Amino acid sequence: MRIVVLGAGGLGSLIGGYLARSGVDVTLIGRAPHVEAIRERGLEITGIRGSSVIFDNLTAVTSPDDARGEFDYLMLTVKSKDTDTALGQAEALRTRSATVFSLQNGVDHDEKLARWAGADKVIGASTIEGGTLGAPGAVVNTLSTPTTAYFGELDGRITERVRRITEAFNHAGLPSRAVENVVQVEWEKLIQIALASGFSVTALAAIPEMRIGDGLVVREGAEFYVQLAKELLSVYRAMGYRPQNFYAPASRLKELDELPFADAVEAAMEQGRRFKADAGRGRTSMHNDILQRRKTEVDFIFKPILERGHALKIAIPTVEAVHRIIKTLDSNL
Ligand SMILES: NC(=O)c1ccc[n+]([C@@H]2O[C@H](COP(=O)([O-])OP(=O)(O)OC[C@H]3O[C@@H](n4cnc5c(N)ncnc54)[C@H](OP(=O)(O)O)[C@@H]3O)[C@@H](O)[C@H]2O)c1
Repeated sequence: MRIVVLGAGGLGSLIGGYLARSGVDVTLIGRAPHVEAIRERGLEITGIRGSSVIFDNLTAVTSPDDARGEFDYLMLTVKSKDTDTALGQAEALRTRSATVFSLQNGVDHDEKLARWAGADKVIGASTIEGGTLGAPGAVVNTLSTPTTAYFGELDGRITERVRRITEAFNHAGLPSRAVENVVQVEWEKLIQIALASGFSVTALAAIPEMRIGDGLVVREGAEFYVQLAKELLSVYRAMGYRPQNFYAPASRLKELDELPFADAVEAAMEQGRRFKADAGRGRTSMHNDILQRRKTEVDFIFKPILERGHALKIAIPTVEAVHRIIKTLDSNL
């Protein structure tokens, strides 16, 4: 199997690296310092799944024009704000990639990929696996859940190409599932990311040392978190979905949905105490983007939910306020 990764940063390098280690022929397309470091010293992966340096089966290039041959899959992992530019520069890969999928946060990438490559080439995919580019050539695996990724056809079928990529992830030590409801998985992940990012940035980012656990152990912080969760989930429910906790135990949307407000606040405070005991957990990438003065994915994460909420005439004032606050910060970056 041959896979090309368009946008080899934290997530793309991590997944691409694990796949290469398991025998998949992987081409990473990334920025020059990262590509040069991989060519010189290999790709170093550290973090929760242990340490390894990967040389074999791994090619790193800075331009899609330098990615040679035919690919079974193209995996898109640039930040959502860079999707149009990256696809625009990847004309050389459009006809040489049999199947394309995105692991980005957001829900509009399948449509963008369909416009770029043709709808028949796109499959749905989702992951919450955490990867951060610590230094050129070095990626840290920061978060994992029992199911790493989900794949499926956008019309609900499970086809051979869906099974093959799922098996490749499983073989690489990334437990994954082929599912008939991948669009629901993508939306539920969006709700989960909007909750964690919205809370993290608006409640915590003013004090750089604060992490999610520090906010959730404060009653008012937990109340804000639950209010935001319930509004986000009201949109998700109105779309006809019920929370499934696809990324349990990181996801506790089911409990936040089912428990009455006061009980959900107690549960969120308990979760905060657990997060504080587990010092590794606690900041979203949007929060890190703000702290590092980088543009965020705010529109890609909040706009689809706001648009659905408004179309379905659901009152979501807390979601609107969170979006406005983050937009204000983001516009000054
Ligand atoms: N990281 C995670 O843990 C994680 C987990 C689940 C989902 N996601 C989602 O996955 C996506 C990627 O996240 P990430 O954290 O991996 O971001 P990232 O570390 O910024 O990686 C993206 C990489 O692509 C590079 N890039 C941008 N445009 C490019 C182009 N035209 N050609 C080649 N390379 C290009 C970026 O370089 P520059 O920085 O120089 O632009 C960066 O190195 C986001 O949508 C994120 O929300 C991330």
